[in-house]
Amino acid sequence: MADVVVKPQVGGGGGIVIDDDWPGYSLDLFSYPAHYSGDLDCVVVPHGVIMDRTERLARNIMDDLGDHDIVVLCVLKGGYQFCVDLVDKIKALSCNSNRTLPMRVHFIRLKSYLNDLSTEDLHIVGAEDLSFLAGKNVLIVEAIVGTGKTMKALLKHVESFSPKLIKVAGLLVKRVPHNSTCLPDYVGFEIPDRFVVGYALDYNEYFRDLNHICVISESGKTKYKI
Ligand code: HPA
Ligand code: MG
Repeated sequence: MADVVVKPQVGGGGGIVIDDDWPGYSLDLFSYPAHYSGDLDCVVVPHGVIMDRTERLARNIMDDLGDHDIVVLCVLKGGYQFCVDLVDKIKALSCNSNRTLPMRVHFIRLKSYLNDLSTEDLHIVGAEDLSFLAGKNVLIVEAIVGTGKTMKALLKHVESFSPKLIKVAGLLVKRVPHNSTCLPDYVGFEIPDRFVVGYALDYNEYFRDLNHICVISESGKTKYKI
């Protein structure tokens, strides 16, 4: 099989940009679980928009990697919903076009947040032996990239198993003060530096059961603080 040749993306490579001064959508415009009423400030990215953007990312990935086997490395827990939906969209393209992208899916878990603060220590669980990645095309699927420190550490770890190619799909990239040089190859949205929850992103394990990506309110933070 020929090597993958990745063409530069034409426009939209950094994702849909959501400006710092954008107030978000009022929660009254959407439905969401009643148990979170009062816990959220606004909707930043509605579920339908996430799905539409993911569909396009799937097409970009198919354009770059189509007809090659890939190993999808899903970064839990926050990345599970994005990974499921991205894999589903790629599967649909494999069924409904004359290209195909055989995928294997592997799960690893990273943990570095307590409340809304990043802790220094990064734990990688389920990534002890990734030797099966040697010579493979790997797509890392991550929900959110902030400073990029976590992504950098993970990339270094994955690289040590000598895959042929590593690409990263990140649903959200946060504009933090010390943004990294290490940005995903496929970005859904670039968002302001605010703590967001929903679509599997949590605050102390809450809010994963919320479809939209929302900004948590101060009272929400207090209610679920540990
Ligand atoms: N929300 C949830 N988890 C996170 C975030 C966030 O904004 N940033 C890094 N991990
Ligand atoms: Mg978390």
